[in-house]
Amino acid sequence: MASPSISRIFVIGGTGAQGMPIVRALVAHKRYAVRFLSRDPGSRRAKELLALDNVSVVEGSFADEDVLREGLRGCDGAYINLDGFNAGEKTETYWAIRCYEIAIEEGIQFFVYGNLDYGLKKSGYDSRFRTGHYDGKGRIGEWILSQNQVNGARMGAAVFTSGPYIEMVISPGTPMTPTVEDGVVTWRVPLGEGAVPHVALEDCGHYVRWLFDHPERANGMDLEVAVDHIGYADLAAAFERVTGHPARYVDTDLDTYWREGPLSRIADAPAGYNADPNDKSTMNVRDNFTGFWNLWKYGVVERDYGLLDEVHPTRIRSAEEWFRREDERGRALGKGGLWERVQPDNRTPILKIGEDMRAGKL
Ligand SMILES: NC(=O)c1ccc[n+]([C@@H]2O[C@H](COP(=O)([O-])OP(=O)(O)OC[C@H]3O[C@@H](n4cnc5c(N)ncnc54)[C@H](OP(=O)(O)O)[C@@H]3O)[C@@H](O)[C@H]2O)c1
Repeated sequence: MASPSISRIFVIGGTGAQGMPIVRALVAHKRYAVRFLSRDPGSRRAKELLALDNVSVVEGSFADEDVLREGLRGCDGAYINLDGFNAGEKTETYWAIRCYEIAIEEGIQFFVYGNLDYGLKKSGYDSRFRTGHYDGKGRIGEWILSQNQVNGARMGAAVFTSGPYIEMVISPGTPMTPTVEDGVVTWRVPLGEGAVPHVALEDCGHYVRWLFDHPERANGMDLEVAVDHIGYADLAAAFERVTGHPARYVDTDLDTYWREGPLSRIADAPAGYNADPNDKSTMNVRDNFTGFWNLWKYGVVERDYGLLDEVHPTRIRSAEEWFRREDERGRALGKGGLWERVQPDNRTPILKIGEDMRAGKL
């Protein structure tokens, strides 16, 4: 069994939407030091992290063994969120396996893998649910847990399975970016009567810190998180209650979504911006996110909310609660309320890939 005395954690994906609150939560109260990996330590996000106490950076790419060794060496823990929207599913799979192997070799005590649901398997291997950025992680999550049955005494491992960030419902360039039509905030998505198990990024910080804080219990665990399964009529109603402004959900067929929706301009591009478009294993954005919406429309993914209440008693439990907190947070930061922030000219991307316009090296 791994030692509980973890102090330094190597983080891949630290400057990302997911990584920023996770790094903040890890270094809070000086419990851990973090060394994060970035291709560009001079970026706004990297600088923001480096301004925190006990945070340092290694420059380079996860697709480089020497860099992985440099990052992992001398650390006790690792939080690994590989960007499949850069590498593509096939390349991500290879580097995820190498990360795990090198982490053992370099003496990491506890390894946490940033995961997504293995939707294809959970659907009973039905191709309507094939989602490269989910399956690419989900297969590895299972592989790590099975390796851990043999390796767990030398290096403990846990899987942290998240889901679509709720922050994306008000951000530009996401699968669920709303329009504002005649003063009505409108989500036109192919969800039917389904529900999305959205996660709140702030709570991801708590959950990941909990995994490192409790290695005995977390070893071998797949912590699958969400705020709630959120239907979009309920999402719109919650937005109205919090802002006092009208909102609606319009169930949209896939053809219309791909012709007019927020990702329509990049529908034919590879889902991973550095994946080879001529490799037949590469999914395009349309196929990838069609599977993604089907996962939610047909209720393939479940969560144990009782467990989450135990792990994080003050967790965010509803879309309304998240909207309310976000409205207050935005006002306190001088960004205005949610209603102002959802107007097309005022939106800022939550994803770094949005800031970077789907570009950057592998
Ligand atoms: N969007 C969602 O709702 C969601 C939910 C759960 C999981 N995910 C998964 O999370 C991953 C993306 O992370 P994110 O959501 O935080 O997105 P993001 O905000 O776009 O951040 C991308 C992160 O990946 C890092 N990165 C990209 N390519 C890299 C490389 N070659 N070497 C080292 N670091 C690299 C970036 O660091 P630098 O630019 O500083 O190098 C940045 O920290 C994807 O695999 C996605 O499937 C997404």
